[in-house]
Amino acid sequence: MATPIGPELLRYERLAAELASLIERGVLAPGDRLPSVRRLASEKRLSMSTVVQALRRLEDAGKVEARPQSGYYVRLRGPQRAVPQLRNTPEEAMPVAISQRLERVLQAARQPGMAPLVAAWPAPELLPIAALNRLYAKVVRTHPTLLQSGSHHSPGETALLHQLVRRSLAWGGPLPTEELLVTNSCTEALGLCLRAVTQPGDTVAVESPAYYLMLQLLESLGLKALEIPCDARHGMSLEALDLASRQGKVAACLLVPNVSNPLGSTMPDEKKRALVALTAARGIAVIEDDIYGDLHFGDTRPWPLKAFDTTGNVMLCGSFSKSLSPALRLGFVAAGRYRQAVSLQKTICSGASNPVTQMVVAEYLDSGAYERHLRSLRRHYETQVAAMRDAVARHFPAETRISQPHGAFVLWLELPEAVNTSALYERAVREGVPFVPGELFSASGLYRNCLRLNCGNPHTPEIEDAVRRLGHLITHP
Ligand SMILES: Cc1ncc(COP(=O)(O)O)c(C=O)c1O
Repeated sequence: MATPIGPELLRYERLAAELASLIERGVLAPGDRLPSVRRLASEKRLSMSTVVQALRRLEDAGKVEARPQSGYYVRLRGPQRAVPQLRNTPEEAMPVAISQRLERVLQAARQPGMAPLVAAWPAPELLPIAALNRLYAKVVRTHPTLLQSGSHHSPGETALLHQLVRRSLAWGGPLPTEELLVTNSCTEALGLCLRAVTQPGDTVAVESPAYYLMLQLLESLGLKALEIPCDARHGMSLEALDLASRQGKVAACLLVPNVSNPLGSTMPDEKKRALVALTAARGIAVIEDDIYGDLHFGDTRPWPLKAFDTTGNVMLCGSFSKSLSPALRLGFVAAGRYRQAVSLQKTICSGASNPVTQMVVAEYLDSGAYERHLRSLRRHYETQVAAMRDAVARHFPAETRISQPHGAFVLWLELPEAVNTSALYERAVREGVPFVPGELFSASGLYRNCLRLNCGNPHTPEIEDAVRRLGHLITHP
């Protein structure tokens, strides 16, 4: 953006050029925070919208980046801020076989002394554990008969179902109460939906790269994965889904439209609407995982696909594992027209979920504490992700591409082609700095030069050092 500063320029162009020149001369250094919009507006006697226009221009030119709720920052060295690229995926659906390798990675991560870069696990100090503990004590005292009423067929405690419906008002709801089932986690909800709408040997369209546990579910149910390429910002390619589903029968589409794992992408509303219409027209059942919807970084909570569903073809799954505690094992599904079939699977697989935990979460939601907690949690996650991106930019090769997630707390890195992250993993785990190798996010072994990092923990000097050591392993093969 070599725009000369001259009188013929519009006001926002002048400001953009002035700031660009400060960046070029190093007065504003990589990683520096720019003055706030309000301050620039007042100091330069400009309107806030003119300042925002100038900053957007610098953002488009790759000189600064916006960090929601935090402001604009001078980008670290340019190429490292490039986002991962869309990949070509195999045209054929294929069986999945990642479980054994994945188990090894997840087990190794639990050994003492390992840096917490593997599982997408929030740091316990960010979670309201003390408040939940108090609620457990209160609930058993005030509802002493809860443990007497276990029924295999209950859809869930009414108080919790009502809270779920109330929450859905913020994103295109209300969810119909009669569609809802409480589950033991999001993983259980996804598994029940898959069982309800597929037979072994069926094809399921998944994101590429996909969250490894989804691939594991397909593996355990004898289903084939049809990998659909995903854009790092806007998720699954509808053109590819359209083409693939013309070529062969696709029983279901399993995806994370809001803040995907590992890319962190969020589908724009128009794309969501189009996906819902396409799948309904092709007879493809949709299983949507919205576990990260509440953990967005933007101003408003993104809507799930379910908000655009007029035929009951979308099954919406979620849980409180990433926002309250993974140990609760409490999730839910709004199963649309598959409600009966999903409910049958729930009865067969586990029966009703623990009523005490349901009442604890219902009371927590009812108290209003959840919204306050989410606001603070989102800020923490966003700060941690930004700090990890900066650390990667400092310590990894210059060609590294880094995802820019729309929420939650994982980063996806694309390293230079020559780096094989499965081989790198073996060295990294010996050094105590393990990660999840890219191949585990694909049924066909794509992403050999990629890896995922967990940013669920505050960015301490120990974490900075772990990233530095990992970067050193890459730069010194
Ligand atoms: C996209 C996604 N879905 C589901 C889960 C698991 O959720 P739960 O603990 O509720 O089974 C995770 C955890 O990493 C996830 O990333």
